[in-house]
Amino acid sequence: QLILDTLDRSGTIGDTRTLVIPGRSDPAASHEDQITILGALNSLLSREMITYDTHETSSHVLTPEGTQIVLEGSHEARVWASLPVKGEGEPLGVPELKRQVGDEAAEVGRGRAFKNRWIAKEGSGFVKAVAAIKDSTQLELREVDSTGTLQAGEKGLAELRKRKLIIQRKGQWFTIHKGPNFSTSIAKPETDLTVDMLTSGSWKTATFKKYNFGADGIPTSGGALHPLLKVREEIRCIFLEMGFEEMPTSSFVESGFWCFDALFVPQLHPARELQDTFYLSDPSVSLRPPEAYYKRVAEVHEKGGYDSIGYRTPWSDEESHKLLLRTHTTASSAAMLYKLAAKCRGEELDDEDGVLKSRTGGTLAVGDDGFRPAKLFSIDRVFRNETMDATHLAEFHQVEGVVADRNLTLADLIGFMRVFFKKMGMSGVRFKPAYNPYTEPSLEIFAFHPMLQKWVEIGNSGMFRPEMLEPMGFPKDVRVHGWGIGLERPTMIRYGINNIRTLVGHKTPIENVENAPAVMF
Ligand code: PHE
Repeated sequence: QLILDTLDRSGTIGDTRTLVIPGRSDPAASHEDQITILGALNSLLSREMITYDTHETSSHVLTPEGTQIVLEGSHEARVWASLPVKGEGEPLGVPELKRQVGDEAAEVGRGRAFKNRWIAKEGSGFVKAVAAIKDSTQLELREVDSTGTLQAGEKGLAELRKRKLIIQRKGQWFTIHKGPNFSTSIAKPETDLTVDMLTSGSWKTATFKKYNFGADGIPTSGGALHPLLKVREEIRCIFLEMGFEEMPTSSFVESGFWCFDALFVPQLHPARELQDTFYLSDPSVSLRPPEAYYKRVAEVHEKGGYDSIGYRTPWSDEESHKLLLRTHTTASSAAMLYKLAAKCRGEELDDEDGVLKSRTGGTLAVGDDGFRPAKLFSIDRVFRNETMDATHLAEFHQVEGVVADRNLTLADLIGFMRVFFKKMGMSGVRFKPAYNPYTEPSLEIFAFHPMLQKWVEIGNSGMFRPEMLEPMGFPKDVRVHGWGIGLERPTMIRYGINNIRTLVGHKTPIENVENAPAVMF
């Protein structure tokens, strides 16, 4: 506006360094001011309201060393000043000279002082050769400091530049003229040709904004996958490329039977208590599981069987029929394994989801005893009555893999996990013996956390017990191994998140979700 008003008054602006910005007393002569002015000029130029010419300036400023010389004198002057007049005192040796004016000034200044014939050698020391000197270096630097140049001309400036006492600073200033669209107010140009403009004819006089073909488009605000879903998709791909099939896991509500009893978890196990598991109040009782299987499970708990002595505690139907929010996806795995064993029990396979049937016509043969191998996985939500903190929520996701085949060993489980975790980018995993009611042996899985620089537990695994598999109807030589890891922890490591509430829940910043990069293991 200042530029437009000034142009309106005086026709042209000869030198932008003379403009006085409102609210300031001095003209806008500095380098920074001219850069600001240039921004305004280009904006006015694009509207063809003005034209302008650029003028280059060159001025000089002092280096720190130059400034020091203005204050204390040149090296040669300081050397001269520290020496005695000839015949009036002890000549000064080099070590003493260095002590007085410093190493650099003593070396450089001595040479120059000699050249100027200001000092002379006497014995092993030096004395003044003249009574007075003119420190022209200091005088020149003073001139540059206050005027930005030397009246004597370029030769002296070049010398000072060479001595690194001054540096050149290029600048710009501008001459401004009115342009074809000159006006004192900046009209907002039209961005669209509208029906109104066409019917009224106002388009003929309207100014239109020029197309900017180089501009970035506005990012579309579409939906975005949550980071957990991105990691889930990557893990799903690893399972699929290893030949696994995904289990149906939509049953968030399970019975005590499928979540615990079928897995040979004792009915008095602490995990089943209220403070660990969420129970439903309405409805609170489940449908009855398959009767014959239910009896076999109750019996192995109460009395034993299949070479096991069981838990020898009274069986409670009520405990088994309680409805709860599943505490692990192994509840779904148990239901799936029960289905897988259908033919072994002499039943038809009742597989609504088609996961198990999809393989029966394939390459994996069904044995005479009705068994065929299977590799199954799931990634879904589980619930635990946890105290919530930075790393725990009452609901989270489990990743679970289950392999059923004849004569599998613990080495198969370990080998499989090594391959799997390597594909997830964790090449060094370690295992520790552990206890699980439904697996024996059981192994805790540890991975090295690159940010924490320590080993952290990432999951749990083991060989499912005969007490679990044989009541389902599996032949004795069939082994099933399985493992589970959380989905949240690898996701938090991936995205460098250390509070789970930044990842899930109402406090999650939505832009974190929108901007989270894709994951590739
Ligand atoms: N269910 C176990 C857990 O919740 C994981 C697991 C799955 C362990 C399968 C062994 C076998 O941690």
